[in-house]
Amino acid sequence: MRVVLGVTGGIAAYKAAYVLRLLREAGHRVRVVPTEAALRMVGRPTWEALSGEPVRTDVFDDAEHVDHVALGRGADLVVVAPATADLLARAAAGLADDLLTATLLTVTCPVLLAPAMHTEMWLHPATQANVATLRARGVTVLDPDSGRLTGTDSGPGRLPEPAAIVSAALALVGTGPVTDLAGCTVVVSAGGTREPLDPVRFLGNRSSGRQGIALALAAARRGARVTLVAANVEAALLPAHPGVAVERVETTAELREAVRSAAAGADVVVMAAAVADFRPAATSGHKIKKTADATPDPIVLVQNPDILAELATHRLRAGQVVVGFAAETGDADADALAHGRAKARRKGADLLAVNEVGAGLGFGDVPNAVTILDADGEVVARAQGSKDDVADGLWDAVTARRRAATTIDR
Ligand code: CTP
Repeated sequence: MRVVLGVTGGIAAYKAAYVLRLLREAGHRVRVVPTEAALRMVGRPTWEALSGEPVRTDVFDDAEHVDHVALGRGADLVVVAPATADLLARAAAGLADDLLTATLLTVTCPVLLAPAMHTEMWLHPATQANVATLRARGVTVLDPDSGRLTGTDSGPGRLPEPAAIVSAALALVGTGPVTDLAGCTVVVSAGGTREPLDPVRFLGNRSSGRQGIALALAAARRGARVTLVAANVEAALLPAHPGVAVERVETTAELREAVRSAAAGADVVVMAAAVADFRPAATSGHKIKKTADATPDPIVLVQNPDILAELATHRLRAGQVVVGFAAETGDADADALAHGRAKARRKGADLLAVNEVGAGLGFGDVPNAVTILDADGEVVARAQGSKDDVADGLWDAVTARRRAATTIDR
């Protein structure tokens, strides 16, 4: 589940770190949206490190992604803890003067506010009127706890305990983690294959493996047992999730072997690896030396098998969903999507996620946007945002397809 955790500038802001930790431990993805005042209490690095997500406060940060709308549409739950008197007032008035209040205006999911402030501020008729307005609109506003406040004073105004906030919030959506892939076995390939020329050189590509890793982790979070076949992925990026078994490979032949043997027992196979289409016809057993006449021997290439097309054409298991990825750019002949449609028809995979690359999209640690096509090249879904968002979008499309297939089978 995707949770937006708003944090406002009260002393209790530090307790939101515990709320965040509990939500993460329960398997949820959390985007923290602090106010500027909250960052004076607890700094941005804390929120970024604990959430593993970017942290922004202003609608003008990263404006091209229209974050307040994207956050609002993507959220399954919003929790604001602590919610100051100021936040309650701004939310009740419908102001949108920072990212948090703007997001509150775009969400359609359940919203829980956990107020914390001095007793006088909580009991003030203005605050009570704001709370009544918000509750009348369907927002859940917790009553603050009574007890010791910031100084020696005590009374109603304390932030409820983090565990109480989290259980009240999760009760609103009536879920634990999303487990729509529970019992499902999944293979994901990631990274880029390398074809050796000699013991020190290879032909390779720039794929980092991040999208494949995001796919593997998203599937594990949703309950799947995952085999991640990782081709030349930097060790530090490899996941250490109990639901993900990692197999490391180098060449296309090794990747093919590993994917096919895991796929024999899998419900879904996702080929997110960038597979070398060609390999050198011969690999030298020793380092190739410069020639005396400075004219190098040409490298003769032979074609690699198309692993995705093989998996799609000769199914290893009945009902298996086969998914490909295609990074495309437009050229003089056609735009990226048209190339993607042609590839979808050519490969025959059940789903092909077409990823338009170039100009800040696609490779490395940058946002992503994919259009998901079926085997006829028809658009079935779109997903965009971080690689995690794209991964969840892809699994949504896979589960929709599996559900449709089960319905047809019946
Ligand atoms: N793929 C594969 N085996 C290959 C090449 C590609 O399984 N030998 C898979 C990739 O993992 C990906 C999909 O096919 O899921 C599309 O990869 P891409 O390189 O875009 O496809 P190509 O057929 O190589 O097309 P192009 O001519 O555009 O390179």
